[in-house]
Amino acid sequence: MKFASAFAFLFAVSFPSFAQQQQQPDVIFVPTPHDVVERMLAIAKVGPGDILYDLGSGDGRIPIAAAKKYGIRAYGIDIDPERIKEANANAKKAGVTKLVTFKQQDLFKADFKDATVVTLYLLPDLNEKLRPRLWAELKPGTRIVSHQFAMGNWKPEQTVDLNGRTIYFWTVPERKPK
Ligand SMILES: C[S@@+](CC[C@H](N)C(=O)[O-])C[C@H]1O[C@@H](n2cnc3c(N)ncnc32)[C@H](O)[C@@H]1O
Repeated sequence: MKFASAFAFLFAVSFPSFAQQQQQPDVIFVPTPHDVVERMLAIAKVGPGDILYDLGSGDGRIPIAAAKKYGIRAYGIDIDPERIKEANANAKKAGVTKLVTFKQQDLFKADFKDATVVTLYLLPDLNEKLRPRLWAELKPGTRIVSHQFAMGNWKPEQTVDLNGRTIYFWTVPERKPK
């Protein structure tokens, strides 16, 4: 054990940039336009008692809009510490820090099972990668809204075009008995 700790220390001292490396985002930050955010929340029929998670939350605009307009609890998960700082500053400016929480995490490892609404603006392959967890961990009936990208062969219940953007909507199905 002592040898392992000494090795880790020497490694960190010898290769500081490697030791400090953090996991890179799977997709860069590109914000959803505010009118699209508003429509996503309307399509999901966000209302009292909802708990919203934005997976890959960027500057926090979706959780902040949900808290501000609907007074609900909202969470943002982002892997980039700069985005978390920015999102927290934006929540403060919007006066919703009591309702909104941002966590620096890999969305593929984050716990979001208490969500009643999940919002996404990722990439098609990331949506597909996420789908097994959405189906297995979210309560049936949980609403999912994705800006711009579909989710493989999971047919959306609703597709809305808005100013050149597409919004996809699904609800988590009942689990099949094993
Ligand atoms: C296209 S932006 C969308 C931002 C915001 N949801 C919106 O719609 O305005 C994607 C965000 O996902 C974050 N991201 C990428 N890979 C991630 C991962 N594995 N875990 C958590 N966040 C990630 C990026 O840092 C970026 O802020």
